[in-house]
Amino acid sequence: MDKIIIHGGKKLRGDVFISGAKNAALPIMVSSLLAPGWHNFHNVPNLVDIRTIKRLLRSLGVKCEGDSPVRVNSDDINNCEASYDLVKTMRASILVLGPLVARMGIARVSLPGGCAIGARPVNLHIKALKDMGAEVELRDGYIEAKASKLKGTTIYFDISTVTGTENIMMAACLAEGTSLLKNAAKEPEVINLAVTLNSMGARITGMGTDVIRIDGVDRLHPAEATVIPDRIEAGTYMIAAGITGGDINVMGCNHSHLDALILKLRNSGMKITPFEGGLRAVGARRIKSIDIETLPYPGFPTDLQAQIMAMMTLGGGSSVITETVFENRFMHVNELMRMGADIVIKGNTAVVKGVPRLQGAQVMATDLRASASLILAGLVAEGRTELSRVYHIDRGYQGIEKKFAALGADIKRVAV
Ligand code: UD1
Repeated sequence: MDKIIIHGGKKLRGDVFISGAKNAALPIMVSSLLAPGWHNFHNVPNLVDIRTIKRLLRSLGVKCEGDSPVRVNSDDINNCEASYDLVKTMRASILVLGPLVARMGIARVSLPGGCAIGARPVNLHIKALKDMGAEVELRDGYIEAKASKLKGTTIYFDISTVTGTENIMMAACLAEGTSLLKNAAKEPEVINLAVTLNSMGARITGMGTDVIRIDGVDRLHPAEATVIPDRIEAGTYMIAAGITGGDINVMGCNHSHLDALILKLRNSGMKITPFEGGLRAVGARRIKSIDIETLPYPGFPTDLQAQIMAMMTLGGGSSVITETVFENRFMHVNELMRMGADIVIKGNTAVVKGVPRLQGAQVMATDLRASASLILAGLVAEGRTELSRVYHIDRGYQGIEKKFAALGADIKRVAV
């Protein structure tokens, strides 16, 4: 298992290029299940989660070729089951449920179970499919769904769910009649998927708002689609400029997807200047403490909560960070405290009192975004930080140690 070793204290400077968004690429690749023929997907990041979704698609009989563009062909789907082994390594595997029922009339998908950041149920995906007329049963840890033809209807999501919206939006494309998804997720990744589906011949409107309308069609054709830049990766490098007092051009990001973060980082004293094709992020001499509450888009993303917390450990005062999206997403706190951070957790709130400096330590990644926050802390800590379990970071950040090294960080990956 690899480790990442960092000697902190370098101000990061230079250009970093942002990869395609993992959370957009995953549903877009899955959408190929809805239409036969060869699809071409561009700007797909090179990540472990992408390799996992390819494995899952191949296990269903789908052909996947190349890295970017990825060419996908679902002419010969010969299996409608997503096994426990695949789903347990990546919860987003649940995305095959809706498309398989819509195209094949049947799907058997393992229930994801718990994960490091909370229970993360899929009850809303299941309820929506039932609302569309599918028969759904839970048996032996699997969701078994059947429908000769799904029927369009009005679906209300009790909670705004990103993959839930994507799953049902895909299913509704081949349903009979019109579906209205109310309290739908508004994330840019949902829009990217909707645009891809429309380029396959789907009839979707309202994406990016909380009511999405889908008029079902009989069949779809293959798509040529481009994955949007990863706003979470971009945000992580912006925070890296903030925490190290650096000056980074974050190239290829879409700054309109980063509004909440930009405003918060400006409040912390950073200078953020968008330009055509990217933005410049310049750290302040002293970090001002700011309060953060995570929310569905366009609110502050939960996927950047751990990273902004790393920055707030060095703030000039106290910062209150409230996590409202996931119930147990403070696994990074104990590790940050091992590096000298002063953090108290009460329920879903963390009170972070700024300290003058962090010290390098041996720390352990617990999930994808927690790993990013520990790397950020390591970049500014005195001495040596050794991060283990880095396989978490490889799920969602393409070449993170190479990108940081190119910005002047003293960071390397070692095989143990
Ligand atoms: C997606 C992202 C993940 C991000 C999250 C929130 C992908 C592949 N992953 O995850 O990186 O952190 O959005 O922005 O896009 N919930 C239910 N029942 C359900 C579904 C969700 O109670 O059936 C709850 C969840 O437990 C959570 C909240 O809804 O508390 C939001 O979760 P959701 O948006 O579904 O997250 P994911 O789509 O899994």
